[in-house]
Amino acid sequence: MNNFLSDRINKLSTSQTLAMAALARELKNQGKDIISLSLGEPDFNTPDFIKEAAKKAIDENYSTYTPVEGYAELKEAICRKFKRDNNLDYKPSNIVVSTGAKQSLYNIAQVMINEGDEVILPAPYWVSYYEIIKMSGGIPVEVPTSVESDFKITPAQLEAAITPKTKMIWYSSPCNPSGSVYSREELTALAKVLEKYPNIFIVSDEIYEHINFSGTFCSVASIPGMFDRTITVNGVAKAFAMTGWRIGYIGAPEFIAKACTKMQGQVTSGANSIAQRATIAAVDADPSVLNGMVSAFKGRRDLVVGLIKEIPGLKLNTPEGAFYVFPDVSSYFGKTLRGTTINNADDFSMYLLGEANVATVTGDAFGNPNCIRISYATSEEILTEAIRRIKEVLA
Ligand SMILES: Cc1ncc(COP(=O)(O)O)c(C=O)c1O
Repeated sequence: MNNFLSDRINKLSTSQTLAMAALARELKNQGKDIISLSLGEPDFNTPDFIKEAAKKAIDENYSTYTPVEGYAELKEAICRKFKRDNNLDYKPSNIVVSTGAKQSLYNIAQVMINEGDEVILPAPYWVSYYEIIKMSGGIPVEVPTSVESDFKITPAQLEAAITPKTKMIWYSSPCNPSGSVYSREELTALAKVLEKYPNIFIVSDEIYEHINFSGTFCSVASIPGMFDRTITVNGVAKAFAMTGWRIGYIGAPEFIAKACTKMQGQVTSGANSIAQRATIAAVDADPSVLNGMVSAFKGRRDLVVGLIKEIPGLKLNTPEGAFYVFPDVSSYFGKTLRGTTINNADDFSMYLLGEANVATVTGDAFGNPNCIRISYATSEEILTEAIRRIKEVLA
């Protein structure tokens, strides 16, 4: 039947995180006691003040098509947020609101990348970057990192990856899947390399900005010389536990914002009206409203890192943000456990699912074949049990 489908869709890979979540659900439905640590969403409810804003919007009849680029009041609120949290001076004309940061990223790829353009991806990277770039005709150029370098690239690695075809670099900080956070000093050193290549644009995905235990956060656009060549991507999904509301946004040079608006005007039109009104309340709120959630994530991070470090053969760093750990499991490659030979991270992850009933995601999906991603967006009790099971089946 694939003969009837376009080459475009046949070439596209299925999202491995969603595939693993679906498999875990299926096994659960069959009665298996599966613990899923595969999905990337907070296990908290959307804060009440945001839900109230949405209810009010329904009562006030925010029910018609929205401006393609987003409500003016929301764009103004996003500008205030960028100033307050990131010291960035975006104007409403620099802002485009979309149906999730995923659409923001898709728009950027479609409006910036031509066939054959290279896009540098520090690996590990978020799964969808690779496919979104490929779909636009771009060539992802992976720059590998490891636990030892805290999964961050160096200026020398960046420079070595640049060719005359390099169009952009895409990265997230805090990073999904590694949880690594680039400091201002590290970003300044990378920016120094980019000074020599003025035609390279940066996509800075800051969706995990507030789930950050490092005490500092730096938007690369705030580094001198970078503002006019950076597209800052953010959204409310992770910080405000609003994954289903589907609102993301960008701050970008005006010509890029205009192009993204043109793009989504033909594809989805403006984002959902009620969710946009609710997002005004979210982005206007002082980030301290998130302290409870962030400290719960930090407690879990400490718990999970501590427990995993007790498992022989797993190597991991201490991630400073997001809600994932990304242990290196390669010491198990080539070994046979309970009759199963583990050749790679895919096998390892499937082994944990089959033997421990714990769903994780292979690092391969994120461009690092030595690791697996474990999401700790669940209770300490469940995390403790999951890691106990993992330890048991690896013993
Ligand atoms: C790094 C990163 N960027 C973007 C997104 C997409 O966010 P949204 O739910 O707003 O589309 C995710 C979601 O998992 C993510 O992890």
